[in-house]
Amino acid sequence: MTAPIRVAVTGAAGQICYSLLPRIAAGEMFGKDQPVILQLLEIPVEKAQQALVGVAMELDDCAFPLLQDIICTDDPKVAFKDANWCLLVGSKPRGPGMERADLLKDNGKIFIGQGQAIDEVAADDCRVAVVGNPCNTNVMIAAAQAKRLPAERFTAMTRLDQNRGCTQLAQKAGVAVTEVENLIIFGNHSPTMYPDFTHATIGGKPAAEVINDDAWLKETFIPTVGKRGAAIIAARGLSSAGSAANALIDHVKALHTPSDTVHSICVKSDGSYGFTAGVWASVPVRTTAPGTYEIVQGVELDEFSQGQIAITNDELTGERETVKDML
Ligand code: NAD
Ligand code: LMR
Repeated sequence: MTAPIRVAVTGAAGQICYSLLPRIAAGEMFGKDQPVILQLLEIPVEKAQQALVGVAMELDDCAFPLLQDIICTDDPKVAFKDANWCLLVGSKPRGPGMERADLLKDNGKIFIGQGQAIDEVAADDCRVAVVGNPCNTNVMIAAAQAKRLPAERFTAMTRLDQNRGCTQLAQKAGVAVTEVENLIIFGNHSPTMYPDFTHATIGGKPAAEVINDDAWLKETFIPTVGKRGAAIIAARGLSSAGSAANALIDHVKALHTPSDTVHSICVKSDGSYGFTAGVWASVPVRTTAPGTYEIVQGVELDEFSQGQIAITNDELTGERETVKDML
């Protein structure tokens, strides 16, 4: 029998997790032969704990063959105990008119206690993926608490931006999304992010050549991807959930599965591509062993790309300054 993977998930009664948990239990994250145990954390408030019981009841009612156990708790040390993956979703979403950085002070402190608990009780091979916003800076706060687990184990998610960008390019070109490759997201999961279309291909040809509209790429494509989260909030009255859950499945699957494919993931910057060392910036990575990645080097950046990266890097270093007391 294959040993189960213990997956701790925070914010488990929230809207992202309502889409996420059944998909993990169905084998979409770790494979159709890999049993899982879900360790679900919610805040110690009766309403949230009751809702969590309801979520667990529904998971039971799916009779998923791979789901070996469900643990529901309000104690981070129970949720993260022996966890192989910790998916940190729980935190406040923004509402209409807010920027993700507005959440910094409120959400940042969640990641101090959770980072400490993970470092204390999670499995030696534990990997951490942060979704709660502002995710680049929250993951830095969590990683800063760790004395045992290396900072490289902590990542944050720009996969939703990668997926959004691929669809925008495909729709503009009038082709299937599977035709789009090599779109790299650089920087912060915020409107300053740089969806680098200069290396993207559509049907194997340079995207810029296929689209043949530089103004659209620079003035419409980039802000559409950067502000898509706000557009969803304006349309739904709630932040993205199904697409965020889907992106987290893609993010973890990418990190769990060694391959030559290039993925955009927020990792601790080593100074590559002009990012300040030590901030968590989205860069191109390749998975070399399950849970282990390298930053892909040698992607050429023209003057426009360098300028875009400088803008998003300024924001990341500014966010780090704002939370310096939490690091
Ligand atoms: P939600 O409000 O529906 O659910 C969040 C849940 O987290 C709530 O049930 C809440 O009780 C719980 N929670 C709050 N603090 C917690 C803590 N300390 N420990 C455990 N649970 C806690 O929100 P949602 O729509 O599921 O979004 C969650 C987060 O994900 C938000 O910060 C949102 O902005 C972010 N998000 C990020 C991306 C991305 O691409 N990185 C995409 C979508 C949403
Ligand atoms: C998104 O990109 O949809 C999320 O980060 C939610 C938000 O606040 O935009």
